[in-house]
Amino acid sequence: MVAKTIPVSAFDLVIFGATGDLARRKILPGLFKRYQAGQITNESRIVGSARSEMDTQGFRQVVRELLVDKDKSALNDPEKLEGFLKVLSYVRIDIKGQDGWEELKQELRPSVVQAFYLSVSPEFFGVISAKLNSYGIKDDDARIVVEKPFGHDLPSARALNEELLESFTEKQIYRIDHYLGKETVQNLMALRFSNALFEESWNARNIDHVQITVAETLGVDGRGQYYDGSGALRDMVQNHLMQLLCLTAMEPPSRFEPDAVRDEKLKVIRALKPIEGSDVVRGQYRGTKPGDNYLDHAGTHESRTESYIALKMNIANWRWAGTPFYLRTGKRLRDRVSEIAIMFRKPPHSIFSDQMQLGGNELVIRLQPNEGIELRMNIKDPGPGGMRLVEVPLDMSFAEVLGAIDDTPDAYERLIMDVVRGDQTLFMRGDELEAAWEWIDPIVESWSNTREKPYPYDAGGSGPEEAMMMMHQDGRRWRGIGS
Ligand code: BG6
Repeated sequence: MVAKTIPVSAFDLVIFGATGDLARRKILPGLFKRYQAGQITNESRIVGSARSEMDTQGFRQVVRELLVDKDKSALNDPEKLEGFLKVLSYVRIDIKGQDGWEELKQELRPSVVQAFYLSVSPEFFGVISAKLNSYGIKDDDARIVVEKPFGHDLPSARALNEELLESFTEKQIYRIDHYLGKETVQNLMALRFSNALFEESWNARNIDHVQITVAETLGVDGRGQYYDGSGALRDMVQNHLMQLLCLTAMEPPSRFEPDAVRDEKLKVIRALKPIEGSDVVRGQYRGTKPGDNYLDHAGTHESRTESYIALKMNIANWRWAGTPFYLRTGKRLRDRVSEIAIMFRKPPHSIFSDQMQLGGNELVIRLQPNEGIELRMNIKDPGPGGMRLVEVPLDMSFAEVLGAIDDTPDAYERLIMDVVRGDQTLFMRGDELEAAWEWIDPIVESWSNTREKPYPYDAGGSGPEEAMMMMHQDGRRWRGIGS
């Protein structure tokens, strides 16, 4: 099945860092897919900009190679490939100096939407936005797109926000958290707010606890040094998992509009209780095979950075008091799984024999792989032998129900198109981001005051034993990670 695509109006998009890793892996291939799908038309312009000495022809050649490299089928439709390359141009810019800025100004048109994608290190956010302003390049409606890491603590995040706000307004700033662009994350909102069935029971009276898991099979190979300065809490929890928690826990916004949604998410972050030391477990993967030992990648065998973290979080409000949210994420685990599991309470009274241990219902929203929704229910075990109960899944894979959608946009494609459309709903607002750091900072600080090391866990396993214990102490258990 091919999804219906509505072309966006013409735009000028400038990518700073156009020869960098993110641009090559995600941004340029994503834009090409949107062009193939007919969403980007020939009237738009995409300007690559970087330090490399290159002209437009050279840039087009680089992009051609990377697109074909990523997907050979690009060659099957030469018309689309050539058409896309024609939309591209290149301006060499010296970010800190004077070179290139006047040329960039000449490339852009006053009559169309302008967007500037800063696919560069955050240390350049301030200088680029100031130059766009001082050279009179950006217009009043221009959008600026920035990527994580957006700060490493509250003061640095505030400083970045202030730098951007000197040249742009909050309405023009698009902070990407690519988890918000994932299809099923948006489906979580559709599920919650278009089905009265769930919303009625979405509270502490009916829900025992919530588990949010983002497990990865890959280790930190290749980016060990960056990662070691960050760790799972800052790399994944502060942004992606926190966003999933907010969308799961927030009150229904009055409208599906950027500030209505973001106001509700912010309230959740502000209602998070400070965390106790015993409610956090950190781990580091270990193994003997190449790539299986975190410390080999960290640059130092003394590293105390966590490649796994599990947390028990509590939201102090009427809806959630008494229902903990358990979050866990880690690298080099058994399977790649991202899911939100809503674990309902058991029925208040069982009319069946005491031998029949009734579990509560589980509603699992699978983000990846095999996006879908599963509801675990108790039914009668079929056949003779009296009343026995069995737990079964009502399992809906979106691909099975709706047909595989050939050109489902990946998170980056969707988010870039939202920038062009001027829709900030799936982007983090500055105050949201700062509130998340405000909650995270004391945890990091408490670690720096202790010599405790993360617990080792087996590469390819399901995380440290201590994370299992954390759950057992509460009389609960984690869902399994894959097979
Ligand atoms: C990034 C993190 O933001 O998200 C990476 O920096 C992580 O460490 C990645 O691997 C996970 O994204 P996804 O879409 O593959 O789940």
